[in-house]
Amino acid sequence: MANKQFDVVVIGAGPGGYIAAIRAAQLGLSTACIESESYADPKGEIRLGGTCLNVGCIPSKALLRSSELFEEAHHSFQMHGISADNVKIDVGTMVQRKDNIVTQLVGGIKMLFKKNKVTLLPGHGKFVGRENDRWLVDVSGETVEANHVIVATGSKARHLSDIPVDNKIVCDNTGALSFDSTPKRLGVIGAGVIGLELGSVWKRLGSDVTILEAMPDFLAAADQAVAKEAWKVFTQKQGLKINLGVKINKVTVGKKGVKVEYDLGDESKVLECDRLIVSVGRIPNTQGLGGDNVGLTINERGFITVDHNCRTNLPNVWAVGDVVPGPMLAHKGMEEGVMVAECIAGQKGHVNIDTVPWVIYTHPEIAWVGKTEQQLKNEGVEYRAGQIPFAANGRALGQGDTTGFVKMLADAKTDRILGVHVIGNNASELIAEAVVAMEFNASSEDIARICHAHPTLSEAMHEASLAVDKRPLHF
Ligand code: FAD
Ligand code: NAI
Repeated sequence: MANKQFDVVVIGAGPGGYIAAIRAAQLGLSTACIESESYADPKGEIRLGGTCLNVGCIPSKALLRSSELFEEAHHSFQMHGISADNVKIDVGTMVQRKDNIVTQLVGGIKMLFKKNKVTLLPGHGKFVGRENDRWLVDVSGETVEANHVIVATGSKARHLSDIPVDNKIVCDNTGALSFDSTPKRLGVIGAGVIGLELGSVWKRLGSDVTILEAMPDFLAAADQAVAKEAWKVFTQKQGLKINLGVKINKVTVGKKGVKVEYDLGDESKVLECDRLIVSVGRIPNTQGLGGDNVGLTINERGFITVDHNCRTNLPNVWAVGDVVPGPMLAHKGMEEGVMVAECIAGQKGHVNIDTVPWVIYTHPEIAWVGKTEQQLKNEGVEYRAGQIPFAANGRALGQGDTTGFVKMLADAKTDRILGVHVIGNNASELIAEAVVAMEFNASSEDIARICHAHPTLSEAMHEASLAVDKRPLHF
């Protein structure tokens, strides 16, 4: 029987892959998307959406919201004159709500595939070779042919040698999103994005949370002023115990829980906890892809090497998302997916890595785009900075949440915005204005001249732009 033939075959149905497939199909290309059983439901039914929908962005944000409401009922209601005695959390219901949201969204992608006429090929995708200018891809025993292949196989949690993850007691992101109860004592290895977000969830629900971080600096990728403020809030106000500069020596799992032996400076310490989350970064999924069969270039860290248009070293083979170098973020993968589909269709695709926003969904939220102040200093760029605290914002006061600030950095000569850093309520939404501004090469004066609705948190962005020119009106 002849092999099935497609213009485009996408391997992996995470945000990079499913978006690439949908866009390619929209552009009139016959498109198939291969997805393995990684996230299949208990009946073996393939679930689309990859890490993001199944065990990443979406479930973590659902738990963050539930735990935030619980925390508010405990600590914030009182100042509004609301009493809520005996507030309790049913972890089972919270986790079920999260699971329902995931199920709804992964099902939604199957519908989108149907609507856009993307063929779903269930199974493990693997390069076999190339014949007559077409790629041969094996899908669990069946060979399909494609003019173009887009690799979007994503990433998986990095584990540490000698620390076996069972996703019950010692967990990576998958287990940490499905605890059946609130652990009394929770240990976390890694004070990165997952450590802080999931550490916050369980801290709010009552866990005594200790985070052990190898690096001496806290949130080194963020602007230092933001990292300093976040450190103050997380450790002093919220009671997260974060130890920096730690070296993990041994992890033992026993009947009474987990014992983590580590060095902190010259001291040897022991952390005893009921559950441990290991969140020390992610590694790209290139094993078993058959890259060796076809000579796909993979760098020393396991990422597929690509150019600015996500072209690999092989003709008509592209790679997007977590499997290529760059920020491991869902929206970055989606942008790359669109770009590649448009390039294949003969259009000009583009992704501006410099304006990809970062968000950490703790409370307060942290969001930024562009350069940090320390980067500008290191690069010798002359800049002007404007910073406005939410304490000077009427809406923040009304909402009873004045933590944090907006900080804008602009080129001293041209006034072009070089970076915007927000720590505070709704930073994830506020950063969009800064992304638009930077994408269009706007200056701080451009933002200063835009009318912002009153009273809104976005006025802090307006004021920060005025502060760059030392003329804030409300501070
Ligand atoms: P993935 O989502 O990993 O998808 C790859 C898919 O390919 C998977 O479905 C996998 O099963 C499939 N696959 C792999 N190999 C094969 C093969 N050989 N054959 C067939 N199928 C294969 N990012 C954000 O932007 N915002 C967030 O809030 C956020 N929160 C996160 C929270 C957590 C806990 C985690 C772990 C991650 C979070 N991320 C977040 C990161 C985000 O999930 C990833 O950047 C994103 O999912 C990457 O998309 P992708 O398509 O490249 O890969
Ligand atoms: P991360 O890279 O954000 O943080 C890992 C942390 O672990 C680092 O601070 C690192 O120094 C530390 N670490 C590494 N080895 C260690 C060791 N042996 N002992 C102690 N500490 C150690 O990675 P994380 O948190 O696992 O998340 C993975 C990725 O998923 C993120 O980088 C991000 O791309 C994505 N993500 C994005 C989110 C968002 O956009 N809001 C939320 C969650 C994840």
